Parts: sequence; structure tokens; C-alpha cells
Amino acid sequence: MNLEKGRLCLLYILSYFTGTSFLGLVNYDLKERRIIIVTGTPGVGKSAVSRALSKELKAEYIDLTKFVEKHGLIEGYDEDRETFIVDEEKVCIRLQEFIEGLNAQNIVIDGHYGVFTVSPEKVYRVFVLRRHPAELREVLLARGYSDRKIAENLASEILDVCLIDAIKRCGRDKVCEIDVTGKDVGCVVKKMVENLSGRRPCEIGIVDWLGELEREGRLDEFLTF
Ligand SMILES: Nc1ncnc2c1ncn2[C@@H]1O[C@H](COP(=O)(O)OP(=O)(O)OP(=O)(O)O)[C@@H](O)[C@H]1O
Ligand SMILES: [Mg+2]
Repeated sequence: MNLEKGRLCLLYILSYFTGTSFLGLVNYDLKERRIIIVTGTPGVGKSAVSRALSKELKAEYIDLTKFVEKHGLIEGYDEDRETFIVDEEKVCIRLQEFIEGLNAQNIVIDGHYGVFTVSPEKVYRVFVLRRHPAELREVLLARGYSDRKIAENLASEILDVCLIDAIKRCGRDKVCEIDVTGKDVGCVVKKMVENLSGRRPCEIGIVDWLGELEREGRLDEFLTF
């Protein structure tokens, strides 16, 4: 149990005056913890958006890339895919321990495999950021990624890989898709906050890059290896 002392005192006073069970209130309080995952293809803007969202919600921010580095969870390097190899099961265990030690009410987890690192029943919301492949390509080119890595990431965005993973793992009800194309971070965060407060419903199926690029005759430009 990792509630701060002040919070425990408040719950105790509340239980005294309302005649409600103290443990019941503590359990209710713990249940209120919200784990929010921000996922999406590399380069869509997860970190920029997650940092701003965490600030807005006064949430604990966990960048999975940094978390696995800091906790020695990198197992190797995949030369073909030009990416670090992590054991998602181990990350899941370590992350759970870490989260249990936190006092924060809101926790924002930033990472494209975020949905695989938390038990689905503990996830409050998954935001899947989407970015038009033309804009995403510019971000990835600016990062100096190889042609192959860019092609893989663009294919992943066009084929909705992160969205499908999020729905399969956490269920449609917890997933919100947000198209960040041409939007600034503040505008994206505003939408997220509105959603979390219940003022804006979650939407999924809002983009169809595959259909759009096919209709424009540009699919080959983005789906070539
Ligand atoms: N909403 C936005 N509008 C404009 N630019 C943005 C927005 N979000 C992010 N960016 C810019 O896009 C680039 C990629 O963003 P970021 O590093 O946050 O992506 P990421 O999804 O976290 O990538 P990775 O998965 O590799 O960590 C950065 O240069 C960032 O400043
Ligand atoms: Mg990032």
C-alpha cells in the first residue's frame, strides 16, 4: 500500500465522520489510480505529447525507452530491424513493481509497446496517436533513419499495427485514436484531457491511410521495401 501519509490521514478523517470503513475507502482510493498508455508508431509524437499530458494531469511520466535502459532490461540489438531487443514479460514485471511504489494518482506510460507492459485490467485508457505517413516520413528522415527502418515504420502506421495491438490487448472500450497530423501538442493534449474527463467520447477508426493513399495512387510511394 503506497498512499502518502497526508492522503491516509484525510481518508481516516473521512471514514470517522462518515462512518465508512477506513479500509474500504483506502481500497476505493487505490482503485481510482489511472494508468494511461500513449502508443503509436515511432515518430508520431508520443513523447512530446505524453510529457505535456503528464504535466497537465500532474501525473507520473514513464518513458519506456528510458525505463528499460535505466533498469538494465535491454537484452541485445536487432541488426536487421535496427532496434533494441527487450523481453516484454520482464519489463512488465519490473514496471508493475515500479508502479506499485508510486504515489501518483495518474500514470502516463509512453511507448509503442506500452500495451504489452501492463495487465489489461489495470489500464484505464490507451491513446493511439496517428500521423499521416507523409508527415511521419519527414520526422523519420530528420532522425536519419535508414530507408529500411523508415519503410518498416511507415508500413506499420499504414497498416494500423499499434491500433490493432491496443484493441486486441485492452479491448475497444479503453482505446482512443487521435490524429495528430498538422496539430500542435497543446491541441492534442486538450483532446486527451477532454476525453479523460468524459467531455469527449473516444473514437476509433478515424483514419484510413491505406484507403486514402490507394485512392490517391500513392501507396507504392509509401509501401515499398
Ligand atoms: N503534435 C505535434 N506537432 C508537431 N510536432 C510534433 C508533435 N508531436 C511531436 N512532434 C515532433 O515530432 C518529432 C517526434 O516526436 P516524438 O519524439 O515525441 O515521437 P515518439 O512517438 O515519441 O517517437 P519514439 O517512438 O521514437 O520515441 C519530434 O521532433 C517532436 O518535436
Ligand atoms: Mg518517444
